[in-house]
Amino acid sequence: MNNKKILITGVTGQVAFPFALHHVENNEVWAIARFGDTDKKAALEAAGVHCRVVDLCDGEYGDLPTDFDAVFHFAVARIKEDDFELELTANAEATGKLMSFCRDAKAFFHCSTSGVYQSVGHDLLTETSSLGDNHRAMMPTYSIGKIAVEAVVRFCAQEYNLPTVIARLNTPYGESGWPFYHLMMMQHNIDIAVHSDGPSQYTLIHQDDINRLAPKFLAQASVPAEIFNLSGQEHVSIEEWVAYIESLTGLTAKFKVTSDTLESVKTDNTKMCEAIGPATVTWQEGIRAMVEKAGALKS
Ligand SMILES: NC(=O)c1ccc[n+]([C@@H]2O[C@H](COP(=O)([O-])OP(=O)(O)OC[C@H]3O[C@@H](n4cnc5c(N)ncnc54)[C@H](OP(=O)(O)O)[C@@H]3O)[C@@H](O)[C@H]2O)c1
Repeated sequence: MNNKKILITGVTGQVAFPFALHHVENNEVWAIARFGDTDKKAALEAAGVHCRVVDLCDGEYGDLPTDFDAVFHFAVARIKEDDFELELTANAEATGKLMSFCRDAKAFFHCSTSGVYQSVGHDLLTETSSLGDNHRAMMPTYSIGKIAVEAVVRFCAQEYNLPTVIARLNTPYGESGWPFYHLMMMQHNIDIAVHSDGPSQYTLIHQDDINRLAPKFLAQASVPAEIFNLSGQEHVSIEEWVAYIESLTGLTAKFKVTSDTLESVKTDNTKMCEAIGPATVTWQEGIRAMVEKAGALKS
């Protein structure tokens, strides 16, 4: 992506922060968040990102422009409690307000999640698989909230004739993400939950692939909105990546086997590969780079 004027939401988050820093080199990047973390705002502005403090729940955008080539919507309000009223307000309604504000953009990329699918054990999930309350065990309102957001996005794409793509992301990682949290848990001797229907498998995708692939999805944006799984093609279990982290660091993990955690979520990325190509970072390369960056490689 070059010479585009883009808006990124959720820019202080795990996925959007490195995405913004990567793309500001060749594009005019505007970014919004509440910026409770002022260090991140300073780092983004130092890199040339135009930051604006916006609470998506308010729908007040101040002097933010509207003539974007593309909007990348990564923001998500993480609702801690079993509060569906807040979930729907802070995510579904907030996304509707955003798309109303951005209706003049040329394309809208909505980051959804493979957590919208009904769990199917170790089977592969395609874009037409059944939806369900996948993440209830860890985040009580998340899956239903993300399904509700998708419905709002689909409506707004048609209402505003805004070409839109919905990307259901499965287990992003890089310098942060789930494997990184597991590394920290190992360093602090904290149990790592794995599902009793083991192994706990996910279809990891590295941040470098997200940075490269998300802009390619813009060519797939349409009215009505098109839906894609966004993942790698390697189905890797927590048990496997933790064992690999053990081998790289010399640390030892403690597992807690339970039915009260996420089940496997394995996504089929055939549709994505046919449209824009595959992910290329292998999981071992990505995990090793993560461990090295964290300074945890054993000598
Ligand atoms: N991380 C994963 O493992 C994973 C897996 C699958 C899919 N996804 C999806 O990927 C996307 C990015 O996730 P992430 O993990 O990178 O997110 P994250 O780290 O939880 O960050 C969420 C972002 O949303 C912003 N935000 C929250 N409430 C806001 C509000 N009211 N107004 C404005 N901004 C608000 C936060 O900024 P402030 O707090 O500064 O406002 C932050 O920048 C999300 O759509 C998520 O559902 C993530």
